[in-house]
Amino acid sequence: MKFETPAGANPIDQLKVIGKPTDRIEGPLKTTGTATYAYEYNDAVSNPAYGYVVGAAIAKGRIKAIDQSKAKAAPGVLAIVTAANAGPLKPGQFYVDRLLAGPDIDHYHQAVAVVVAETFEQARAAASLLKISYTKTKGAFDLAAAKDSAPLIKPGPFSPPPTTNVGNFESAFASAPVKLDETYTTPDQTHAMMEPHATIAKWDGDKLTCWASIQQINWGVRDIATVLGIPKENIRLISAFIGGGFGGKGTVLSDIIAASLAARAAGRPVKVTLPRPLIANNTTHRPATIQRIRIGATPDGNITAIGHESWSGNLPGGISETATASTRLLYAGANRFTQLRLADLDLAEGSAMRAPGEATGMMALEIAMDEMAEKLNMDPVAFRIKNDTQEDPEKPGRKFSSRKLVECLKTGSEQFGWTKRQAKPGTIREGQWLIGMGVASAIRGAPIMKSAARVRLSREGIVTVETDMTDIGTGSYTIIGQTAAEMMGVPLSNVVVKLGDSTFPESPGSGGQWGAASATSGVYAACVKLREAVTKSLGVSTEGVEFVGGQVRSGNRSYPLGDAAKAIDLVVTDEMTYGNLSEEYAQDTFGAHFVEVGVNRYTGEIRVRRMLAVCNAGRILNPKAARSQVIGAMTMGVGAALMEELVVDKQVGFFVNHDLAGYEVPVHADIPHQEVVLLDDVDPTMSPMKAKGIGELGLVGVAAAVANAVYNATGIRVREYPITLDKLI
Ligand code: MOS
Repeated sequence: MKFETPAGANPIDQLKVIGKPTDRIEGPLKTTGTATYAYEYNDAVSNPAYGYVVGAAIAKGRIKAIDQSKAKAAPGVLAIVTAANAGPLKPGQFYVDRLLAGPDIDHYHQAVAVVVAETFEQARAAASLLKISYTKTKGAFDLAAAKDSAPLIKPGPFSPPPTTNVGNFESAFASAPVKLDETYTTPDQTHAMMEPHATIAKWDGDKLTCWASIQQINWGVRDIATVLGIPKENIRLISAFIGGGFGGKGTVLSDIIAASLAARAAGRPVKVTLPRPLIANNTTHRPATIQRIRIGATPDGNITAIGHESWSGNLPGGISETATASTRLLYAGANRFTQLRLADLDLAEGSAMRAPGEATGMMALEIAMDEMAEKLNMDPVAFRIKNDTQEDPEKPGRKFSSRKLVECLKTGSEQFGWTKRQAKPGTIREGQWLIGMGVASAIRGAPIMKSAARVRLSREGIVTVETDMTDIGTGSYTIIGQTAAEMMGVPLSNVVVKLGDSTFPESPGSGGQWGAASATSGVYAACVKLREAVTKSLGVSTEGVEFVGGQVRSGNRSYPLGDAAKAIDLVVTDEMTYGNLSEEYAQDTFGAHFVEVGVNRYTGEIRVRRMLAVCNAGRILNPKAARSQVIGAMTMGVGAALMEELVVDKQVGFFVNHDLAGYEVPVHADIPHQEVVLLDDVDPTMSPMKAKGIGELGLVGVAAAVANAVYNATGIRVREYPITLDKLI
């Protein structure tokens, strides 16, 4: 069905199941270790072999020769696949990286061989016996060095315009009474999801089944077809449980291609998991940026000019980190300028990582806003509120579908005790500790996408939902179940949810914070159709019919819902589509982050003491899961502020700290106290669910709020992330 604001009563608004804090329906499977992740489909395949991916030991150049003699003779070895015997391979349609390379090498740890053996240990041991000789050529690895010659980004499906201009930025900035012109840097980051990329591949003739860990099933099928040159119809892709993705498993990466090629070569199903130390340099990462921000304002704090330029790097043809995205929408200001430049770098591919572009850009913009507030002698909350806008500042007249940024900031100030903050840095001391508070706004796009589902009603009154939507730890299973329960008037325990299989109707998958609202709307559409089918089957009027407590009530008659299924299950499929909604409305979520830190006067050690996020994301479908998403994101934001950094070796050309020992992320001891407030809201313009995504919003702005708190504590303004203690002493 096509989305229109439902006339009359919308069954989803009953809120018997939707909107209630609900435990995850798949939770017991996960906590008892019985949820089946990609590498664990041991009953589905018999006698699997194991593939071990070998990554290039140089960053750029050519393979001279691969001496396979020792590896081939090693115990248990069944096959060795390289570009020389793999057959023709193409890049996929989203990533530009070649997923099995040779003889040319584009980046360090790019996959160059898969060794297949009877056991994992044998495959790994044989892989170490491959003798690969290379000719190195010079590569570019240093963003700062490449910056000044970086061209504007090229147009593409995932690229915004390279430059945006409103009014006359340069002259307005030049004549602004109060101004700021600063440069900020953010480092490369890796997703560090718990479950590594993993695949089991199995061929039946020319039909391929892959059990993989992948966020977007539809893109996955498309990209397997593209890379291997086989028809989409011949591919089945299953990803029922995913141990974290954060954008790092958007579509096909080397594990899927390695497993598929290895299974073909060995004539047996093959399991491949990428070893942790391979992931940072082999797969994708969030690219580093250099960002220049200029803000001009009147002495009473009205922004008159706002400019944001960002530089990032990628493999030739790759996308840019769109760090200017939020600056285009967040604050008022008549004169505006943004620009994105992209350097060719010979590091691993840069791509989406949680709130791509926006999280990165707001790390800079929200420090700049703090600096500007100080120049204006204004409270940073008041300065933000003063520059709120209720329409798209680049497109006058275009409204936000809903926007409660001011309410987020006000609610947060009250709840956090913001009035206790001292404007003068370094004022509050507790023994060895300097105490400071910081704030940042949050904004994250909330696109809505076409999504389909199949629903089935059995004689027992059980509703089964099938869609290829994925659950990357976010809670998709539960909100999809809640949607079907609400729509069909049954308890959640009477709903079965099946996800992550390409034989199910197509969803847009998990990404871009579009998953929750899009997938549930597809389920809504299918349930509307199922309700019609039920009334028809029972021979009751659709007027005034009620679906309550497992019963269908019409006039003074009541029937068990399952009666509509009669001899066979009632099965319907439908999808929800949207016209040009995103042209009509800016679709975004909003928030405010408040952070208190302590900084040790003698050692520079930074401890986050408490955090508060206030989020405005339409109707909250499952407050429990939404809160979990936000606290996870806040934790990730602390990582971005204080520790996360892939360190580039600019000589060899690779990320040095490519494992969880060297790539630091927060642990429990780093995160003492977090609170989340979810604003009461509905957004009826977006979808029948009136909901928006929230999982990525929770990250945006957090790092800047930490940085601003560190400044408030110490008077030291750090503009280069991460804020490690060496930058304070
Ligand atoms: Mo997200 S980084 O768009 O999976």
